[in-house]
Amino acid sequence: MKNILVTGGMGFIGSHTVIALIEAGFNVIILDNLCNSEITTLKQIEKISGHYPEFYFANLMHKASIEAVFMQQEIHGVIHFAALKAVGESVDKPLSYYQNNLVGTLNLCQVMQEFNVFNLVFSSSATVYGDKNPIPYKEDMPLSATSPYGQSKVMIEQMLQDLHLSEPRWNISLLRYFNPIGAHSSGLLGENPKGIPNNLMPYIAQVATGQRQALGIFGNDYNTPDGTGIRDYIHVMDLANGHLKALAQLASQNSANQTNRNKTSVEAYNLGAGHGYSVLEVVKAFENATGVHIPFKKLARRAGDIAAFYADTHKANKVLDWQVERGLTQMCSDTWRWQLNLSKRANS
Ligand SMILES: NC(=O)c1ccc[n+]([C@@H]2O[C@H](COP(=O)([O-])OP(=O)(O)OC[C@H]3O[C@@H](n4cnc5c(N)ncnc54)[C@H](O)[C@@H]3O)[C@@H](O)[C@H]2O)c1
Repeated sequence: MKNILVTGGMGFIGSHTVIALIEAGFNVIILDNLCNSEITTLKQIEKISGHYPEFYFANLMHKASIEAVFMQQEIHGVIHFAALKAVGESVDKPLSYYQNNLVGTLNLCQVMQEFNVFNLVFSSSATVYGDKNPIPYKEDMPLSATSPYGQSKVMIEQMLQDLHLSEPRWNISLLRYFNPIGAHSSGLLGENPKGIPNNLMPYIAQVATGQRQALGIFGNDYNTPDGTGIRDYIHVMDLANGHLKALAQLASQNSANQTNRNKTSVEAYNLGAGHGYSVLEVVKAFENATGVHIPFKKLARRAGDIAAFYADTHKANKVLDWQVERGLTQMCSDTWRWQLNLSKRANS
């Protein structure tokens, strides 16, 4: 499996995974409509990796545009990141989320099937565990969702299961990400949310540069040691490496499949650190790593948030031979290096 199509490869997780893929010797083809990313990311990828990846400006809503890519390229496998991802926005715009995430994936899978490409790594999310499961979350727990965004991931996972049942050549990894943060250690690539950040780390980073006055912490009366919510943070480059491991696993199943048709599968894997940090711990870690004070104010709980969750990572550790290598301090210092570069670029 050499030629990998990366949908959403210009986005936060996609672009870091593209770096990891190029460094591992893959030939990367990116498809993205830039609805939540910038064309300048291609240059940054080239600066880091020495390679300017092939890029198709295309929307997964248009099946013919996907077909055009498959006609021009010999693709062996697909990593499918492209999606809308803001939980809150999905509550206000459910139709946009269902349309983009579901129809985009449907179109992609139809084209893959037409071109006999059956290797797929799908970006799922810890949000598919809903709010009723005990922690840590394990892959075989029942799935549910508390938002249209989460529901779109649950539905796509189900659709991919059905696809494999209908055609056993489908070979699929469902990667359930926990909370990806951090940036590439070069400071050249990172997360650059449009508008007000939805996630904790980009918000902290913008407070640190003075773009925002103070961090709002939603809920300080949860049943956690310091009262603030606990999440499982994972460095985006560790997450990127998880995709390489998932591709290797799919490839090994393909070769086993030549003698045994039942080896291909749809398997879910949790990609997280396997333990959590509270919001206040993340703030402290950021201050310690950067020397910058982060003012915050405590606010009421946000509807739909739960006190704590983190991953059980045994399956990914064992089956994919994957573990995280980077800790919270590095997540903070890499974010800060990137944020400083971003501010410099904006001011120049
Ligand atoms: N960032 C997180 O916290 C997180 C957590 C769990 C799961 N995920 C999932 O991981 C994936 C990547 O997330 P991210 O944080 O890199 O998001 P992102 O928004 O930075 O990247 C997504 C990319 O997909 C592109 N895109 C969206 N719709 C498209 C379409 N119809 N056609 C072509 N391109 C399209 C966007 O332009 C963007 O470049 C998403 O599927 C997301 O749901 C993210």
